[in-house]
Amino acid sequence: MYSEIKLTRQKLGFQLFGEKPLAADGRKRPVGDPIALGGKYHDFEHVFWQAMSHHQPVACFMSLCERQRAAARSDPVRFRLHPASTVVTGCFVNRIARRRKYSSEPMNKKTVFLGIESSCDETAAAVVARGADGHGEILADVVLSQMEEHAAFGGVVPEIAARAHVEAMDRLIAEAIHQSGVSLQDIDGIAATIGPGLIGGLLVGAMSGKAIAYASGKPFYGVNHLEGHALTARLTDGVSFPFLMLLVSGGHTQIVLVRGVGQYERWGTTIDDALGEAFDKTAKLMDLGYPGGPQVEKAAVTGNPKRIPLPRPMRGEARLDFSFSGLKTAVRQAAQALAPLEEQDVADLCAAFQLAVAETLRDRVGRSLARFRAEGLADEDRPALVVAGGVAANSAIREVLTSLCESQGFAFVAPPIRLCTDNAVMIAWAGLEREAAGLSANGLDMAVRSRWPLDAKASALIGSGKKGAKA
Ligand code: KG4
Ligand code: ZN
Repeated sequence: MYSEIKLTRQKLGFQLFGEKPLAADGRKRPVGDPIALGGKYHDFEHVFWQAMSHHQPVACFMSLCERQRAAARSDPVRFRLHPASTVVTGCFVNRIARRRKYSSEPMNKKTVFLGIESSCDETAAAVVARGADGHGEILADVVLSQMEEHAAFGGVVPEIAARAHVEAMDRLIAEAIHQSGVSLQDIDGIAATIGPGLIGGLLVGAMSGKAIAYASGKPFYGVNHLEGHALTARLTDGVSFPFLMLLVSGGHTQIVLVRGVGQYERWGTTIDDALGEAFDKTAKLMDLGYPGGPQVEKAAVTGNPKRIPLPRPMRGEARLDFSFSGLKTAVRQAAQALAPLEEQDVADLCAAFQLAVAETLRDRVGRSLARFRAEGLADEDRPALVVAGGVAANSAIREVLTSLCESQGFAFVAPPIRLCTDNAVMIAWAGLEREAAGLSANGLDMAVRSRWPLDAKASALIGSGKKGAKA
């Protein structure tokens, strides 16, 4: 008799709400869809939301941890329970019989994402929140650099990188969640870099993210590492679309028009070496250590940039691409001509190299800014040029770009160096931006990709090397 009543009740529930909402409310996975809990709220809550005149549904309150419940109770503006319900520390007494009409604004909920990055030689995890107004907040940011493990080889060794990611990943994710002060239950989505990058490392981060997403029933966002770099300035400086981005790192050198989330046009890329790579090779040539960029910058301080003439590759060309292998060769030849190198020779070579790079960038970026204006993209008084990537830490390059932007009426935006180099904050943020833009989570079957251009329409350049084509 009792079981019959229970069955009838269940059938009625199915008829009214469907399989998914009922399963979600019971914290169970529905039979047909193992990733059913991907939404921002339980589907069941939407039903209640409407039924209860936009009050916060009880089901949502119940899914909070005790600390959040306490916060919610003391914040009646953000969190309104229908007067038909009384909540007593986690248990609720339903007083639905006492019907009263209430109207209120929907809650301004923050969305919180866990981000994971492991595409190269940094293992990173972060927790970032985004308000409905687009404002972001970094709740935790943990980065473990593998630099020391690769230093002896003068570059990143993929196998060493992948193993180091495996060893550190769990610990870093736990640390990020701990630092953020939120529980895994409070996190709305998981974003992990799934490309481009070294495949072994990408697998470690992507599988960790997917496992957490699957076990906790949260949506999984596979993020393009370059999109992370591109959108960081919106988190740090609230930059609005469209804007230009100069990405200069160890693996990429590109000028990208960022029209919106998921809307990128690559205007220029390197046809051979990435700029960071050119810095690293120049440093290696002079035994300055790895990574080379900071060493070259340091040595250049006491150097005379005019003593040794070096080429300005691609300067004056209408296309907006880069090339650094010729410059690298010119540095090598100049070093061979001066050998054995004195300390002053090294300083002069570094200063000359840095000047050649800075003037090349002034030309390439200057033309890009002019194109931005010519195409009528500058809605705002001062549109932004955003820099990203490790090379953006170089002060000579920053100086040149700052004065270039000033002269052409652009705002020069350089996120803090920590967020210019590889990190997981940018990955969590890219996931949040995707979610806010209504781009659905791409799910657990998204595969990792060693190459993944931001601009799918941009063709690989003739003569582009391994790194160039990747970009
Ligand atoms: O973005 P990043 O940390 O890692 C990826 O390559 O994705 O960039 C690292 C690169 C290295 O090639 C390093 O030599 C270069 O950025 N770099 C610099 C400076 N600091 C780092 N290059 C020039 N000047 C610097 N101060
Ligand atoms: Zn990067």
